[in-house]
Amino acid sequence: MVDISKRACGHKSSLKDQFGRTATYLRLSVTDRCDLRCTYCMAENMTFLPRKDVLSLEELYRLATVFIDQGIRKIRLTGGEPLVRKNVMSLIENLSRHLETGELDELTLTTNGTLLARYAGQLASYGVKRVNVSLDTLNPERYRAVTRWGRIEKVINGLDAAQAAGLRVKVNAVAQKGDFETEVDELIRFAHGRGMDLTFIEEMPLGGGAASRHASFLSLADLRRDLEERWAIVPLTDTTGGPAKYVRLKETGGRLGFITPMSCDFCAACNRVRLSCTGQLYTCMGQDSCVDLREALRGSNGNEATTQLIRAAVFDKPKSHEFEVKNDQIIGIDRAMSTLGG
Ligand code: 5AD
Ligand code: SF4
Repeated sequence: MVDISKRACGHKSSLKDQFGRTATYLRLSVTDRCDLRCTYCMAENMTFLPRKDVLSLEELYRLATVFIDQGIRKIRLTGGEPLVRKNVMSLIENLSRHLETGELDELTLTTNGTLLARYAGQLASYGVKRVNVSLDTLNPERYRAVTRWGRIEKVINGLDAAQAAGLRVKVNAVAQKGDFETEVDELIRFAHGRGMDLTFIEEMPLGGGAASRHASFLSLADLRRDLEERWAIVPLTDTTGGPAKYVRLKETGGRLGFITPMSCDFCAACNRVRLSCTGQLYTCMGQDSCVDLREALRGSNGNEATTQLIRAAVFDKPKSHEFEVKNDQIIGIDRAMSTLGG
């Protein structure tokens, strides 16, 4: 079927920054809440945002349409954990209409997987084609320790359901020194054995206490060198437009990604912007600065003011983040990961 509304995208504005990058990818946090408390992400006794500060699902949708009008082609829902937001499926249903019109190329989400068994079928029916699932270990005790109380069976059931529904799954694992290094081969065999990509993420110093993170920080350059001793690694040149560098393992035929915010230049091709669930626009996750869109959104029935704020903020997008590993200290920022969901 030829859909003439697809032609509309030719008339859309584009969001350019002063360094010539175009923002086409919106990461939309729909809640700061989560049913887990991963140690590198949240404190155990998290105080979550008052509900009045959090955008309603209608407001989130309206904001998303402003971004779509400005040329955003891909939306990823994040959290906290996006699937704990009550009624989040209604937002996904609304956004899925923009897949049908061709305005969006992709609608996807990052999830911890605990609720995937319940929602995978619905997600697939709304045109979601793939999901990223966070899973750092296959060891039930260590999973519980990392997430502070999570049960790994729920995630495994979620993975089963997602794959049964035809969703492509990528597993994200935060690399850490210690047990992670001894378990990593098992994680590789598990993911690749099920036809899932696996991506390692360098731990980012978010949410305070950054200096104490140095003990657990594992550089992916080191991890890769270690893997090279046991696996035949073939670098891949195809990129996903994202910050991950991919390789193929000869033994499994599967893909392995490395996201190295701390040790590689990762900003030059950045096409993304992030919106918190309170309507703060972050054009760079590694900077504290953000622009409030909520007031403009709530202050008017029209979207002109919001559009202008977005365009100006993207133009001012910083050239690069400010994370640094320096003299054995990690320079981080105070915002918790759950504000933006990675
Ligand atoms: N550094 C790197 N990745 C993190 N995540 C959460 N906190 C951090 C951190 N401090 C990851 C989660 C998930 C994604 C949303 O972000 O594991 O994969
Ligand atoms: Fe929840 Fe993801 Fe943070 Fe873990 S990393 S506490 S699953 S938001």
